[in-house]
Amino acid sequence: MEIDGTPYRTIWVEEPGKSVGIIDQTKLPHRFETVTLTSMDDAAHAISEMLVRGAPLIGATAAYGMALAVNEDASDAGLAAAYKALYATRPTAVNLRWALDQMQEVLGDLPETDRAAKAWSRAAEICDDDVEISKNIGRHGLKIIEALAAGKATGEPVNILTHCNAGWLATVDWGTATAPIYMAYEKGIDVHVWVDETRPRNQGASLTAWELGRHGVKHTLIADNTGGHLMQHGLVDLCIVGTDRTTATGDVCNKIGTYLKALAAHDNDVPFYVALPSTTIDWTVSDGVREIPIEQRGGTELTRIAGRLADGSVAEVDIAPEGVAVRNDAFDVTPARLVTGLITERGTCPASEEGLRQLFEKS
Ligand code: MRU
Repeated sequence: MEIDGTPYRTIWVEEPGKSVGIIDQTKLPHRFETVTLTSMDDAAHAISEMLVRGAPLIGATAAYGMALAVNEDASDAGLAAAYKALYATRPTAVNLRWALDQMQEVLGDLPETDRAAKAWSRAAEICDDDVEISKNIGRHGLKIIEALAAGKATGEPVNILTHCNAGWLATVDWGTATAPIYMAYEKGIDVHVWVDETRPRNQGASLTAWELGRHGVKHTLIADNTGGHLMQHGLVDLCIVGTDRTTATGDVCNKIGTYLKALAAHDNDVPFYVALPSTTIDWTVSDGVREIPIEQRGGTELTRIAGRLADGSVAEVDIAPEGVAVRNDAFDVTPARLVTGLITERGTCPASEEGLRQLFEKS
């Protein structure tokens, strides 16, 4: 997507076969900085410290992490060690495992001397495929927005609420939840996005608001607790969120707070859609609440907050009593019964085993 008119992806090859560029998302929205990854450790650090985040981008970075690892040690033992190190970076997004398996699958049977070239080309394919997948999610989700726009009086926008950042910053390009929004915008449909701030890391405030703004899409930042109230007053036509892991039965695991939005949407008859690439489906899991590992993150994400000072510098301040006990679950599970539909690269289906099987049976 565009940053002030210049097209960008979130990850790219800098020096072919040697290094990879990423946007350091921990610096946004105050500073736009890119970082060069030259080793597997760099890639693992970028994922675990959330310079890159969002399920599809975690997978894409892990794929390049394997390519960087092969440069260092192309042996079977080297591959196994890289797989293990990258797999340990974040526990919830299943795209990580998917991407590592893809790399292992194509590299495992090759002679060591052929592995590097294959690793770089497969990682590039994973990224290109992700862009195509997101575009197709956009095309299918666009139909839902078009239908809502058709029922609107002239001058009234379609109001869409989203949580966290399932935007282009969370994928290689286009985003999942945002792809239909960007496509609607490109088509001249009047769309307006309610952006949940998404405590505690504020991915909505710092990333979604930033990327929508840079691309020119109308949006309004709201506190996490505001969505239900807006729905009660008819100010939300549609919710679209992303997912880090989707069960074979259609439960979705996404950023903490998504479940509460789904409950509010259900109570107010607001359609609640989840946009996902098939790479987030975990076919081995059927009960999301009991089976999906939920990442537990450090307490300082809740007790400290970062912001820009008047002199332009960025600083952190404490906002809770020193030593307070903190629990910081990073994701929650929305049961399939609260989801209106799953928007995938192959079309939109009911959030159910049957719905998913109809689209993906042959995959
Ligand atoms: O902790 P994060 O920022 O990696 O969480 C990201 C999300 O929860 C996204 O909604 C999800 O990965 C879907 S991304 C298209």
